[in-house]
Amino acid sequence: MKNKSNTFRSIVLGVGTSLPKNIVTNKDLTMKMDTSEEWIESRTGIKERRIASDGETTSSLGTEAAQIAINNSGLKNSDIDLIILATSTPDNTFPASATVIQASLGIEKGYAYDMQAVCSGFVFALEAADNAIKAGNVKNVLVIGSETFSRILDWDDRGTCVLFGDGAGALVLSSSKEETDRGILSNHLHSDGRYGNLLYVDGGPSTSSQVGFLRMNGHGVFKHAVKKLSSVINEALDHNELTVDEIDWFVPHQANIRILEAVAKKVGLHKDKVIITLQKHANTSAASIPLALYDAVESGKIKKGDLVLLEAMGGGFSWGSTLIRW
Ligand code: ACO
Repeated sequence: MKNKSNTFRSIVLGVGTSLPKNIVTNKDLTMKMDTSEEWIESRTGIKERRIASDGETTSSLGTEAAQIAINNSGLKNSDIDLIILATSTPDNTFPASATVIQASLGIEKGYAYDMQAVCSGFVFALEAADNAIKAGNVKNVLVIGSETFSRILDWDDRGTCVLFGDGAGALVLSSSKEETDRGILSNHLHSDGRYGNLLYVDGGPSTSSQVGFLRMNGHGVFKHAVKKLSSVINEALDHNELTVDEIDWFVPHQANIRILEAVAKKVGLHKDKVIITLQKHANTSAASIPLALYDAVESGKIKKGDLVLLEAMGGGFSWGSTLIRW
């Protein structure tokens, strides 16, 4: 899979994250609502989550994560010529929070925009970044997932509010024409809007002039998530003529441990190869994959040359995968 053609490859140069300071444990939640530590952990695998405080926003968390990713990449802020922010919780309806981050980083060239594909946002953003690099339009791209879902949760709905958390992760991609087997090897994206009513926010600028709250049919989401994530993994394996055993690490969107276990069983992948951080972050939507990636890189699990498969599914429904030779 060496890059022998005269085309660009998108290589990962650096990863970064940022989390709100405030840790909210399952026990903390039992003091605010009718729930139990046992219910939350056994149903989801979640033990705690971070919740943004006043002054912590999608753009402030995204800026911090992006700065760490740039520092780790060895580039300067001024080297970045595209910023894509995957988020469903922008600071404001407009301007794009990506441009707020661009200004906070002191970047005055290139372009920046928000990508909205809910929990699949990060893989959608990676595909867009990869295409811009392959087209030769840009050299260095910041791909950020940043969310403050706590601000669209109905804290009186115990069936949803215990599942989510806030945070941000970022990755720097850079184009390379070298003969290397590293870089993004494939992207596969899907959407099917017929399922919008299973996971949605009941407000928005054009319908209610309000931000709205997240609503979910948990059983419906669960069933589709297992099916669609399994099929998108097999799609990536088939496309790249790989077996499941040849993948070094699976980095899934971190929604629910039971979804991850069911997917692992269905496609026959070993659970030790699955990066799991949802116990400490909960579901951070578009931020969950880069948060998990950062943990896996920092702890020395993911190393240069490893084959890493990212996969996600979320509202829409939207779902997809990215295969990277790290
Ligand atoms: N604490 C205690 N009890 C609760 C809570 C809570 N926080 N929430 C719901 N319950 C109760 C319900 O009221 C119900 O009580 P009842 O039987 O008296 O009516 C009981 O627990 C069982 O409820 P179920 O909905 O059947 O619980 P289930 O085992 O299906 O788990 C869950 C619910 C965790 C939401 C599950 O359906 C799920 O994981 N779905 C996937 C949703 C998901 O991951 N969404 C994330 C966004 S999409 C994505 O990222 C892929």
